[in-house]
Parts: sequence; structure tokens; C-alpha cells
Amino acid sequence: MTYRREEHVLIPESDLEGMSVDTLAVRAGQIRTGQLEHSDAIFPTSSFVYGSAAQAAARFGGEEPGNIYSRFTNPTVQAFEARIAAMEGGERAVATSSGMAAILATCMALLQSGDHVICSRGVFGTTNVLFQKYLAKFGVKTSFVGLTDKAQWQSAVRPETRMIFIETPSNPLCEVADMAALAKLSHDNDALFVVDNCFCTPVLQRPFEHGADIIIHSATKYLDGQGRCVGGVVVGPDKLMEEVYGFLRSAGPTMSPFNAWVFLKGLETLPIRMRAHCDNALELAKWLKGQGTVDRVFYAGLPDHPQHDLASRQQSGFGGVLSFTVKGGREQAWAFIDATRMISITANLGDVKTTITHPATTTHGRLSPEDKEQAGITENLVRISVGIEAVGDIKTDLQRGFEILENYRQGTV
Ligand SMILES: Cc1ncc(COP(=O)(O)O)c(C=O)c1O
Repeated sequence: MTYRREEHVLIPESDLEGMSVDTLAVRAGQIRTGQLEHSDAIFPTSSFVYGSAAQAAARFGGEEPGNIYSRFTNPTVQAFEARIAAMEGGERAVATSSGMAAILATCMALLQSGDHVICSRGVFGTTNVLFQKYLAKFGVKTSFVGLTDKAQWQSAVRPETRMIFIETPSNPLCEVADMAALAKLSHDNDALFVVDNCFCTPVLQRPFEHGADIIIHSATKYLDGQGRCVGGVVVGPDKLMEEVYGFLRSAGPTMSPFNAWVFLKGLETLPIRMRAHCDNALELAKWLKGQGTVDRVFYAGLPDHPQHDLASRQQSGFGGVLSFTVKGGREQAWAFIDATRMISITANLGDVKTTITHPATTTHGRLSPEDKEQAGITENLVRISVGIEAVGDIKTDLQRGFEILENYRQGTV
């Protein structure tokens, strides 16, 4: 890695070694200028200047470290990259303009025409579209399999399989993959194991410890945590990240310095936010289970969740997203959502504000009816990203929806 000038880094990586993710979230990667600012500086500049033509040539040639142009070198973005790499326990990170750009950059950099990907069925709807519609145009074929069905993973492997891609826990059904088993399957077949760690963040789950080669984030979600900016990041070994960085430099899906600064601020509070999200979500999941007009609750923190034990081993918390099916179909699910007054009806998740969405017509709306059915995205499914408001107030707001469902049950709607 030649671009980062280590002399401005406030606390060298070696001094932070062994420190907890709570500390790394606040301290890792910060740079300090001659102004001695305490908070992170923002560098909103498109280019950087050189002392001489010879220095410019040395920078462009990679012989001298330093900034060149903000499509691929910006100090605020580098501080964010260094911090998230430290938190995930990875060698290097490459920040991107969105979570989807992080997935695209990884695939463009590390796959080629003729390669085959195996992807879990329950991934974010747009990830599915990216693989099925766009990467397929360039000769990368993708098979979709059930996240928790080991036999399906095994039988999907082909000689040309080069990547296994998962989200765990999955969106929106909170299924949990056995990462160590999938890492072994990937490595036995010379494929990269890529984990989208958006739902757990490094605070709750560290996929490299379970054999992942690459971790992807939509920083738009918990890393920001306050619904302000869109961004993404890829974390992995230096050798692989050099390829992803090369794609970013050539194609330009770059994170802006302002967004990187917002994400740096977001990371500082990530550990305490994640704990608050987990506490509220667990309490809400138990409460939802007791509602007569709810069919099923999907949350790995519930002891009867099929992967509860696995989630307890792999994760240090069960996360802030849960979903449930209401008795009825789309009409009842929409009526339930529309009855809320405080909770935001929005597709984003990972916000301190509780959000509610109908996956079948929003986040997963572009899936074919067959793909939706196979992924378990039914018309009566409601997803909640549980925020950090007082849990009693979240219940009060949801109670309005349950009153409407009760009216449906009694035939008075
Ligand atoms: C798990 C997951 N991965 C990736 C993405 C894509 O991220 P972005 O919206 O930042 O492009 C999302 C977005 O909702 C997501 O939920």
C-alpha cells in the first residue's frame, strides 16, 4: 500500500494492537494535521499539489506515498478505511460510494468472464439483481441457494466456482449461516468466501475469525447509524484489496470526504448503539411472539429460532433487525404499517430511529414471484429495524397496528 502517508497517523497501528473494538471504533485510523484539531479533519479537495514535477511523477508512479486525486486518495476517506479495517481485523479496506458499489467493485476486481458465484438466496434484493442481471451480462453466472442448506451449497459447486457470497444474518428473515463450514467449502474449491457483515457490524460479528476472505459493508446502515449518508466498504488482505483499489481508481465509485467524515463520527458510537439496538430488538421480538395476530417472528435471539445456538456462538449479539408475519396478506401488512405514528416507514435500516417496511413491495420488490417465494418474502411479512428509542414507546406505536389487525380478525374492518 503506497498511497497512505503514515507520518500523520495519530496513534500507530502497533500501539492499538490487541485493543477492544470499542476502543478501535473511537481511536483507530485518525490523522492529525498541524492545526492540532481533536476531532477528525475533513479534506474536501479534489486534487493535491506537489513540490515539483519530479515529485508529481514519483507520486503517480507509486514510488512516493502521498495523495494524488480524491477519486482514489483522500485523507478523510483513508482514516475511515483504516478504522473499519482495524475493527474488522483485516489488513486493508477500500471505501466506496455505496454498499452496492462495494459489492460491484469486489466482483469486477476479483472475478472474470466464465467464473461462477454461489450466492445465498436471502440476500438484499438489489444484490440479487446485480448478480442475476448485470454480472451475468459479462459472463459471470450465479447460482442461488438456501443460506442454511449445506447440501444445496455443496451441490451448487462447479469447477469454475470462484466466489461464495452470503449475508448473515439474512435480510429480512434473520437466517444465520455457518460461516466456518462455508469458508471450508470455498477454500476446498479455490473460491473466495465473501461475507456482507452489514447486519451485525464488527461489534457483533467478526467474519475473518470464521474464515471469511472478504467483508463487505453498506456503511449506509449501522456504520453511519443516523441515516445521513450512502457509502460502502470492502475489507480484506492487502493483495486482494490492491485489486479492488485498482478498480476504484479506474472506474471511480468513490466515497466522498464528507461522507467518510460522517461515517468516522458514526463509528465512534457504533458499539454503544449496537448494544442498545440488540436489547430493544430482543425485548420486542419476545413481545411480538405474544401477539395473537402475529403468525411467526424471525429473530435469532429467540431460543426457538432454528439457528439460535449457531448465532449465539458466532455473534456477540443478535442484532437490531427482526421481521414477522401478520395474520392475513398484503392488505393487513400495509394496514399494520400505516397505523404507526412514530416509527418511520422507510426502507433503510440500521438507524437509531425505528423503521418499518414491507419487503415484498420495497426492498425485495424487484424479485420475480418465484424468487420471492423461494426466499420466503411473503406478502404478510413486515420488517422492523429496531431503533434506540425507549422500547415501551416502540411497543405503544406498534400496538396501534395490532388494534387494526384485531379489527380485521373480528371482521369489523
Ligand atoms: C445487507 C445489505 N447489503 C448491501 C446493501 C446495499 O447498500 P447501499 O444501499 O449502501 O448501496 C444493503 C442495502 O439495504 C443491505 O441491506
